[in-house]
Amino acid sequence: MAHNLLLITLAVSALATVTLAGPGGRGGPKGGGPHGHGHGGPPYLANVTKEGRKEFEAVFKNETATIAEIDAQTAALAEKYNVSDAYNAFTANHTAHLAAVKANQTQVISNLETVVPKLAAIYQNKDQTRKAQEEAVDALRKEYPVEVAAVKYIRELLGAHDKQGPGPRGGPRGGPRGGPHRGGHGHGRHGFY
Ligand SMILES: *[C@@H]1O[C@H](CO)[C@@H](O)[C@H](O)[C@H]1NC(C)=O
Ligand SMILES: *[C@@H]1O[C@H](CO)[C@@H](O)[C@H](O)[C@H]1NC(C)=O
Ligand SMILES: *[C@@H]1O[C@H](CO)[C@@H](O)[C@H](O)[C@H]1NC(C)=O
Ligand SMILES: *[C@@H]1O[C@H](CO)[C@@H](O)[C@H](O)[C@H]1NC(C)=O
Ligand SMILES: *[C@@H]1O[C@H](CO)[C@@H](O)[C@H](O)[C@H]1NC(C)=O
Repeated sequence: MAHNLLLITLAVSALATVTLAGPGGRGGPKGGGPHGHGHGGPPYLANVTKEGRKEFEAVFKNETATIAEIDAQTAALAEKYNVSDAYNAFTANHTAHLAAVKANQTQVISNLETVVPKLAAIYQNKDQTRKAQEEAVDALRKEYPVEVAAVKYIRELLGAHDKQGPGPRGGPRGGPRGGPHRGGHGHGRHGFY
């Protein structure tokens, strides 16, 4: 239990460490998306000339600059191209979003204290049909979608083969799910502790 919590904390903390500058980083332009006016960058570049955008992009792509340096250089370029207001709005937006994510993350981690024992109880109850078990998990998932998904994910990382109700995919190891050959895989065991 404590072990699970630690793992989740580590996993989500790692995810939270992203650059404020928005675009660039490792994974291509972020924050551009539908606002992009075709330039594919963040919205504050909308009215920046092509040449100006190239300067921004050079900063985003700089592999040796630290994240703080990228942020500072981006802010300086925003001033140079008179888009500081749009840049600051975008940055504030992003910061607020990250704060919301962090607050939700804290809540999710706290909820695991409740959800993990509930899931364990559902999976340990063999006086129910598989369908009833799946329905019980689904009901819990309705109330705690992120928590149930997180526990499932952690358990898959740890090599569990929990039988599970209708998820987005089949089992983690691509085993046949729900088909007529059900028994062959987990010998009808219902995982979870
Ligand atoms: C770009 O310029 C247009 C026209 O001046 C303006 O309406 C729009 O708000 C500007 N966009 C940004 C992101 O500054
Ligand atoms: C990348 O950033 C570092 C640190 O700010 C800077 O010294 C270097 O000149 C930059 N490289 C490029 C290609 O702009
Ligand atoms: C930014 O604004 C200043 C003052 O209005 C102007 O002199 C300068 O040419 C502008 N720079 C760009 C890149 O538009
Ligand atoms: C702020 O975020 C919202 C929701 O993600 C988005 O619709 C909006 O365009 C963003 N505004 C700026 C200035 O980036
Ligand atoms: C945080 O959780 C609330 C309540 O579930 C949700 O409405 C909101 O979209 C979440 N925000 C983020 C950034 O995940």
